[in-house]
Amino acid sequence: MPVAEMMANFWDERYQAEPFLFSTKPNSFLVEQVTGNPRPGHKAALAVGDGEGRNGVWLAEQGWHVTSLDYAAEGIAKTQRLAQERGVSIDTVCADASTWTYPAERYDLIVLLYFHLPRDAAIRAHQGCLKALKPGGRLILEGFRKQQMPLTSGGPKVEDWMYSAEEITSDFGTLDASVNRAVGRVLREGRLHGSAAVYQFAGTKAD
Ligand SMILES: C[S@@+](CC[C@H](N)C(=O)[O-])C[C@H]1O[C@@H](n2cnc3c(N)ncnc32)[C@H](O)[C@@H]1O
Repeated sequence: MPVAEMMANFWDERYQAEPFLFSTKPNSFLVEQVTGNPRPGHKAALAVGDGEGRNGVWLAEQGWHVTSLDYAAEGIAKTQRLAQERGVSIDTVCADASTWTYPAERYDLIVLLYFHLPRDAAIRAHQGCLKALKPGGRLILEGFRKQQMPLTSGGPKVEDWMYSAEEITSDFGTLDASVNRAVGRVLREGRLHGSAAVYQFAGTKAD
């Protein structure tokens, strides 16, 4: 079975087993970065690896027109249910983010939150995101960095799947970064608890 299919099954099983694995609250870095920016109106956002939809649905509540992409069908179903409960609509795509055909210059905002792939697949997904970002659009990323390996607060537990400053620069160096930092933070995101080694990035594509 291809790795992507195996991993999608892994996530489907996890999402079936729990009401909300990562809670229904949005990621705090996303909230910090998006709140206070000019009203988005109906601008387009893409949430890549959106899981059970806590971030995509929160963006929709802020007025964004959101496409939530994940390869776990169970996650997509939960995203749609959460959106319905919150009285917002959201587009969902069930696809592998490393092979998906990203539309050119479609999105004003792309978010990658705790989205971890083998390095070769990550490069393809990140290139797709750059292509899909409109000029002037922003990309926001938070995820585990390689120093998370010995810690017990979550993560893929494969060093190659986690971020380093060099990889972020190599993949997103063409964006004008407003945040580009390795941080230690205490995670309180559903089942993820405790001190974590995290990378945060926010950057804008040139007009
Ligand atoms: C750790 S969860 C994070 C979910 C969500 N971003 C959040 O912060 O709550 C990672 C998600 O990425 C998805 N994912 C991983 N690899 C993927 C791929 N190649 N294509 C699409 N989704 C993927 C998984 O199905 C899972 O829902």
